[in-house]
Amino acid sequence: MKTVLVTGASSGFGNRVAEKLLDEGYSVYAAARRVEKMADIEAKGAHILRMDVTDNGSVEARVAQVIKEQGRIDVLFNNAGYGSIGPIECVPLEEIKRQYEVNVFGMARLIKAVLPHMRQERSGLIINTASMVGRFSIAVMGWYASTKYAIEGMSDALRMEVKPFGISVVVIEPGVVKTEFDDVAFAALDKLEEPEDYKALVAGFRKFFQKGYEKAPGSESTADAVVRAIKAKRPKTRYATTTDARVLPKLRRWLPDRLFDSMILREFK
Ligand SMILES: NC(=O)c1ccc[n+]([C@@H]2O[C@H](COP(=O)([O-])OP(=O)(O)OC[C@H]3O[C@@H](n4cnc5c(N)ncnc54)[C@H](OP(=O)(O)O)[C@@H]3O)[C@@H](O)[C@H]2O)c1
Repeated sequence: MKTVLVTGASSGFGNRVAEKLLDEGYSVYAAARRVEKMADIEAKGAHILRMDVTDNGSVEARVAQVIKEQGRIDVLFNNAGYGSIGPIECVPLEEIKRQYEVNVFGMARLIKAVLPHMRQERSGLIINTASMVGRFSIAVMGWYASTKYAIEGMSDALRMEVKPFGISVVVIEPGVVKTEFDDVAFAALDKLEEPEDYKALVAGFRKFFQKGYEKAPGSESTADAVVRAIKAKRPKTRYATTTDARVLPKLRRWLPDRLFDSMILREFK
């Protein structure tokens, strides 16, 4: 059975994907910082890895461990990430950098660590979690969205580069999904000290975001899409995993910029 390395496996999509793969008999290496939150999947047979994706040494050592123990990594589900939200001017530069360290450079570290092995094997699958906000951006989510745009752009290039080696690249694009994502994002928003000029925008966004997550679906359809991609002979290049993620990017493409802007800002009112 295939060996799959899942990052961000301590909650949300990563945890659910790990669980589903274990149920189907895959050999699963589950990575995150909070190893205590992976006791549920450890009990089902997952190999638990303490990994901070911002730390080169941590990523390289854990990937080497999987290869040493299994002789292979067939699939990387490159999924660890978080959203630190706030207006562009208000998010501290250090926080912007931290978000890139996790969402973009963390993904880069994993890709660089697994590719020499996958190239040698002439097979492999890399699944990168982006977002519907990697296809369009909205106020107060700009820096987070920019990390997801980066993932989309990088993944398209990678797909072309590694095709000759028998390696596939897939992008997962969820919409609003109830995981721990919104708790982390709200915690970041709570810490923000925005100038008076931005108060109404942030308050409007907060209501809009809260409402969205109150009625959001759970991680099931996204986890199912990841498992489908893993099982497919020829996986799709992109999986938009929720209804909003299928509809909103299309709407964004059809509508002129300013019309889309006012539609979103009206939602904040
Ligand atoms: N939920 C949504 O609405 C939504 C929509 C679109 C895209 N996404 C994306 O989906 C991915 C998974 O998010 P989720 O919704 O499942 O959120 P989640 O429940 O908060 O899970 C995030 C995971 O990322 C891990 N992580 C964060 N920082 C890390 C670091 N420095 N090193 C290692 N692991 C780290 C966390 O583990 P530890 O804290 O234990 O390390 C956790 O397991 C993210 O890339 C997110 O941007 C989510």
